[in-house]
Amino acid sequence: MTVVHNDNQTILGRGEINDIDAILAIPTVDPNEVEHVVQNNADSIFTWDYSLARPQLRKLYEKAKVGQWNATSDLPWETDVDVEKVVKTDQEILGSGLDVNTFIGTPVEKWGDKEWLNFGIEGRNWQLSQFLHGEQGALICTAKIVETVPWYDAKLYASTQVVDEARHVEVFGRYLNEKLGGQYQVNTHLRLLLDDIINDSRWDMTYLGMQIMVEGLALAAFGFLHQITQEPLLKQLLRYVMSDEARHVAFGVLSLKEVYDGMTDAEMKDRQEFAFEAAVRMRDRFMQQEVWERMDIDMKEIMPLIINDPTREIFQTMLFSKIVPNCKKLGLLERNDKWLRRRFEEMSVIQFEDWADTGEEYTAFGLDQEAMPIAGE
Ligand SMILES: [Fe+2]
Ligand SMILES: [Fe+2]
Repeated sequence: MTVVHNDNQTILGRGEINDIDAILAIPTVDPNEVEHVVQNNADSIFTWDYSLARPQLRKLYEKAKVGQWNATSDLPWETDVDVEKVVKTDQEILGSGLDVNTFIGTPVEKWGDKEWLNFGIEGRNWQLSQFLHGEQGALICTAKIVETVPWYDAKLYASTQVVDEARHVEVFGRYLNEKLGGQYQVNTHLRLLLDDIINDSRWDMTYLGMQIMVEGLALAAFGFLHQITQEPLLKQLLRYVMSDEARHVAFGVLSLKEVYDGMTDAEMKDRQEFAFEAAVRMRDRFMQQEVWERMDIDMKEIMPLIINDPTREIFQTMLFSKIVPNCKKLGLLERNDKWLRRRFEEMSVIQFEDWADTGEEYTAFGLDQEAMPIAGE
């Protein structure tokens, strides 16, 4: 029997993935909110089988034990960060492919260098804030995996990831607080995704949502920023975080490969839909709604400009450079009549399918390696 996938309306709450009105109808999070409660429906599983059943995971566990670093003493926190100068330099390196004529008739028509710089500073703060909130999501998800995964080797490894994620929350939180003077609230689409991941009762869905999708995107995004930024503290911070992050994605790929190879078409359908939903939510997030809101610009008026910005398009596409090959390795692209492959084609990200998957390349990110792989390659 052929499996029938749900439509966009059921998966995403909107029929068209690019329906701007529907995307903007999801309200942003109250910046003053201090606590957010999510229902966690999963079972906690004990295992009495302490044998070494999964050597690849045990190897990762050993790697993690020697790959630890101390956020307090290993990073140059004394670095003086002149935010204006840093953002200006980074903006010059990145450039904007936008033609100024496209500003005509939009709320930014009269913006000069000062306003664009200000926007860049807000954007940097917003970006690092989303990294921070995503890291807390990873901390919670990994603690959950320790409880829910039925395999001994995976419990051991996941416990090291809990420590890693605590360190990542620590470094992004400290950088925002000490160097950028505050933070943004969690992006509304990122929060939706984190809620969905934690809500789900099936243990492999935590891995798929976090290790494959969220961390796959993070690894690409950190790599991109690491390559561009000339700010030495941020550059080193990202380098250190990426050495952990590559291991985390590898943990997801190695664990799920075994599980997904044995799944039925109906079970794979749910995983494909979940991966698609996560991909769309993460793409929605890059509209930076919270930044425009803070700058008193009406999102609806600025949308045409955002959509036509070629720099944004390239950046956004690059973010899928880890996710797509990893989904391919897990069999998610091809199963059920190539359903996810077709969705990724619609999102224009399928071109990354044959790039290196993280199940193998994680050692290249180690702190003992002199040069890391270039973002996305
Ligand atoms: Fe992390
Ligand atoms: Fe991570």
